[in-house]
Order: sequence, then C-alpha cells, then structure tokens
Amino acid sequence: MSRTVLITGATGSVSSALLDALDGSALNLRALVRDRARAGALERRGIEVVTGDLGDPGTLPHAFKEVDDLWLLTAMDPRRPPRRFADFARDHRAAFR
Ligand SMILES: NC(=O)c1ccc[n+]([C@@H]2O[C@H](COP(=O)([O-])OP(=O)(O)OC[C@H]3O[C@@H](n4cnc5c(N)ncnc54)[C@H](OP(=O)(O)O)[C@@H]3O)[C@@H](O)[C@H]2O)c1
Repeated sequence: MSRTVLITGATGSVSSALLDALDGSALNLRALVRDRARAGALERRGIEVVTGDLGDPGTLPHAFKEVDDLWLLTAMDPRRPPRRFADFARDHRAAFR
C-alpha cells in the first residue's frame, strides 16, 4: 500500500519543487493549502488537496488522517504563538501512525 505524504505550504516555492520532484512516484501525495482556489493546478495533476491553516488547529484533523510522512515546509506565522502547532500534534497524536 502506498505511503501517504502530507506536504504543507503546497502553494509555496519549496513545496512546489518537492511536489514536482515526487511527481510520478508511488507515493500518495496530499497537499495542504489555505486557499483551494489557488490549488487548481495541483488538483489537475491528480494530487489530493486539503485545506487547513497551521495557525488554526481545528482546521487540521482531516489533513492528518492516516498520514505516514509529513513535510512541514511552511514558515511559522510570526503573529502566532510558536507552540500552537506542536500543541496540536501532541493533542492529536492518535491521528498519526
Ligand atoms: N525558498 C528557499 O529558497 C528556502 C531555502 C531554505 C529554507 N526555506 C524555508 O522553507 C520554508 C518554505 O519556504 P518557501 O520559500 O517555500 O515559502 P513560500 O513560497 O512563502 O511558501 C510558504 C507557504 O506556506 C504557506 N503558509 C503560510 N502560513 C501558513 C499557515 N498558517 N497554514 C498553512 N500554510 C501556510 C503559504 O500558503 P499561502 O499560499 O496560503 O500563503 C505558502 O504555500 C520556510 O520555512 C523557509 O524559511 C526556503
């Protein structure tokens, strides 16, 4: 069974290059974006797109469902307390396997 890989910041520079590099691999690529309207090109490539905001943990559980690997390629939002995402990961660790 293919590994599911969640790639954050999927509309950004580094993640776009990573998605290009992994295109055609056996991995199940899942891209996290804040604005689905900007993810049309990813969807047309057959990449699974999920919406969520790393500064808003309530928007994230579906994105992390049955994820095997995480590429966290998003600059932390300086307006947010830096531990919020870490708190989310701790509180929802059952969603990780
Ligand atoms: N670019 C480089 O050459 C380079 C080199 C070394 C290290 N890095 C590091 O790699 C990381 C990514 O850099 P990048 O150049 O790819 O940045 P980027 O082009 O500015 O992309 C940042 C991505 O993060 C998303 N994002 C920002 N805040 C978010 C949030 N709260 N929730 C979910 N997504 C959020 C943005 O989404 P929106 O499109 O919705 O804004 C965008 O897709 C950074 O940590 C950077 O320091 C970059």
